[in-house]
Formats: sequence, structure tokens, C-alpha cells
Amino acid sequence: MSDPHPVVIVTGGSRGIGRCIVERLHNDGFSVLFTHSASPEEAREIEYASTGSSWPVKAIQSDVTDPKAPNHLFNEAEKLGHVVGLVNNAGITGKLGPITELTDNDLNAVIAVNLTATVRLCREAAQRWLASHPTINRSIINISSVAARTGSPGEYVAYAATKAAVETLSIGLAKELAASGIRVNAVSPGTIDTTIHARAGEPGRAFRVASRIPLGRPGRPQEIANAVAWLMSKESSYMTGSIMNVSGGL
Ligand SMILES: NC(=O)c1ccc[n+]([C@@H]2O[C@H](COP(=O)([O-])OP(=O)(O)OC[C@H]3O[C@@H](n4cnc5c(N)ncnc54)[C@H](OP(=O)(O)O)[C@@H]3O)[C@@H](O)[C@H]2O)c1
Repeated sequence: MSDPHPVVIVTGGSRGIGRCIVERLHNDGFSVLFTHSASPEEAREIEYASTGSSWPVKAIQSDVTDPKAPNHLFNEAEKLGHVVGLVNNAGITGKLGPITELTDNDLNAVIAVNLTATVRLCREAAQRWLASHPTINRSIINISSVAARTGSPGEYVAYAATKAAVETLSIGLAKELAASGIRVNAVSPGTIDTTIHARAGEPGRAFRVASRIPLGRPGRPQEIANAVAWLMSKESSYMTGSIMNVSGGL
């Protein structure tokens, strides 16, 4: 790494996949600024685990749907050093069920967290990075979902649609920013055993659907973090505009 301890912003880093991404990137030598909207205890625990390291992990309580969040997060991250990465991980499904039961509240929240906030954060990264001197290996990684391909009938089709939009965003933005040395990729997890399923209304969902997964089990959040770490590294320097499926064969 040429720039000592460059900084990566990770949204939704207090639990599940995001937490593993934070821990893995920190182990790989990045300073990390991560967000959560309402998990101060988990956030403190993650910050505490990095005590003693000479490069920080810092949590910020900030709802990604707040229009002021992108400016605030980049300002805070720039205090830690040179920001080279953004991982748009925060995501919600809304309540599991058919479209006939989808409430407007859930619909608006799913679009706001998964799509609007992701677009705004990408815009902030582009505005800041295009205005500064180009450096090698600046990267945006958007967390999509296998739902973008399956459509998740009967479960959460609106969530699936936002993830398809995140993939299209990643493809277009990769082409738009490539000449400036900014890479944009998406990671598409299959079913991963995290708290997202309990929040959707079915804690055991990851294991219920395991029989549909060719590898026969839900994924582990670390297996998604491994893919993100590789995309954030120089090893993936020729990857942009890619959707990386990490889905056990789904
Ligand atoms: N688990 C799966 O099976 C699966 C499969 C495919 C794709 N994914 C995607 O992977 C990503 C992570 O999912 P996960 O399973 O790790 O979810 P999770 O366990 O529910 O964790 C979600 C994280 O996002 C944060 N978050 C949620 N809403 C937020 C908001 N408005 N502002 C800031 N932070 C917010 C949460 O913290 P707070 O609650 O404190 O806000 C938490 O840290 C999501 O984009 C999800 O769609 C997951």
C-alpha cells in the first residue's frame, strides 16, 4: 500500500456483513470510518476491538437516508487521512411477504436506504475524488443481492428491484469514472446468515432456504468481506463495472 493507512468508508458496519467488512479492511491496513443508525453498543464494541492499533476504526451514528449524511461522513473520514474507498453496504429488506402486503412506509424506506442513499454517497465520492489529484486504486463497492437476479417473489420484490438498480448504477458509474482512475464494482451476496432476516420477520430464513443453494448452506458474512477486500485491493486493478456473485452457486 503506497499511502500509509488510507481510509475507507463503510455504511452499516455495526452488524452482519458490514461488521465483517470493517474488521477485514482494518486487518488489511485501512483506517475505517463506519456508520450505523441505531446500534451504539455494537459500534463501541467494534471501535474498542481496534484499540491499540496505530490506524483507527471509527463509528459514526448517522442515518444514511439523511441528505446531509454523505457530506458529513466524507468530512469525518478525511480527518482520518486520505479517503480511497467507499463501501455502500447498509441495506434493509422491509417485511417479508407478497406485494399485496407491502406498506408505503416499507417501500419508501427500502428505496431510501438501498438506492437513494447509495446514489448520494457515490455522488459525494465522485465530487470529492474528481476534484482532487488522482491517486491509484480509488474504489466504490456497492453491496447488491442475489435478489436482483431472482426477483424474490413472495418475499420482497421491492427490495430486489432496488438491488437491481444498484447493479445498474455500478455498471454505469464504472464507465463514467474509469478515466479518472476510480473503479466501481458490486458484490452480490447470496443468502447470508445475519440479523437482516430477523428484521424482515423470519430469523431462521437463511437456513430455511439452504436447500435451494447449490453449496447447501447459507454464506458467512466473512465470505462477503473476503470479496470486498479483494475488490478494494490492487489485486483487482483491472476490475471495474463487475458484479461479483458470492452466492454459493445461486
Ligand atoms: N444477509 C443476507 O442474506 C444478504 C443477502 C444479499 C445481500 N445482502 C445485503 O448485504 C448488506 C448487509 O446486510 P446484512 O445482512 O449484514 O444486514 P444487517 O445484519 O441487518 O445489518 C445492516 C447494517 O446496516 C445498518 N443500517 C441499516 N439501515 C441503516 C441506515 N438507514 N443508516 C445507517 N446504517 C443503516 C445497520 O445498523 P443500524 O440498524 O444501527 O442502522 C447494520 O449495521 C445489505 O445491503 C443487504 O441488502 C444481505
